Amino acid sequence: MTVLIKTDWNHEWELARGGKRQPDTPEFWNTKAERCHKNGHALLDIYDPYIREFINYAALLPGESVLDIGCGPGIMAIPLAERGHRVTAVDFSHRMLGMLFRQAYAKEGLDIIPILADWRDNWETAGIEPADVALASRSVAAVDLESAILKLNTWARRRVCISTAAGGSPGFDRVLAKELGRHICAHSNFAYCMNILFAMDVRAELRFIDSPKHERWETRAAAEAAIRHNAGKLSAAEEQRFERYLRRHLVQLQDEDGRNVWQRDYVRIVEWAFIAWDKDV
Ligand SMILES: C[S@@+](CC[C@H](N)C(=O)[O-])C[C@H]1O[C@@H](n2cnc3c(N)ncnc32)[C@H](O)[C@@H]1O
Repeated sequence: MTVLIKTDWNHEWELARGGKRQPDTPEFWNTKAERCHKNGHALLDIYDPYIREFINYAALLPGESVLDIGCGPGIMAIPLAERGHRVTAVDFSHRMLGMLFRQAYAKEGLDIIPILADWRDNWETAGIEPADVALASRSVAAVDLESAILKLNTWARRRVCISTAAGGSPGFDRVLAKELGRHICAHSNFAYCMNILFAMDVRAELRFIDSPKHERWETRAAAEAAIRHNAGKLSAAEEQRFERYLRRHLVQLQDEDGRNVWQRDYVRIVEWAFIAWDKDV
């Protein structure tokens, strides 16, 4: 037996994350949805290449039904329903479903069935029916990877598509990680997903999607705080490298309205891993 098969990758994934974490709560995501709604900040950025590329790689066949777990405000559910797919959109946050509902309602005639349910619920009693394609966009790490993969696989008739942060978290910044001297593969959910699938004898496809983030801040202090937050805890040695990184990469310039803003001298890329497999191949 090779180490690839002998290893419990789900357990290894938990260890890499620092042990079992408390799962997110609906309240956490309700608050997030409410904040985004209030600030007019779209959780659904229709210009994000992430949406286009995920849908392209998902390669749905005309008329296939879709089960979208952890659907959020409908980043996948809405464009897929617009393409004529019947979508069952599941989330445990009623405010996320509310955002989805408002956008779907504004477009009229979309075949979306919203269901308030948890990844960990009994989906049969929750009324969730199997679909041709089961997908989980950026929501698979909400539970443990293995049970999420198994559940999606059970509920999909033909194909399963998932995505997860390729660099560990959406706050990941390859340039910063390199400058801090951190190894890029730390906490890479996607590698654990691939190994879990490999041990299950599933031939999964892997693609990467780059999603550019054009972030700007009004002050240098705000920029530093946001970047520091994304970097997580810094060791003493990293602290010095972090200061050097800020000196090198934070720049002040004028935006289109002539206001002074701070930004990086490069565009941060959020790296997503898209993983899909066909059933019974
Ligand atoms: C990062 S968002 C992703 C939303 C959307 N799929 C996308 O790609 O933008 C994660 C979503 O998963 C939902 N979620 C987190 N944990 C969940 C759970 N245990 N059961 C159901 N939904 C959950 C959250 O409410 C949130 O809407």
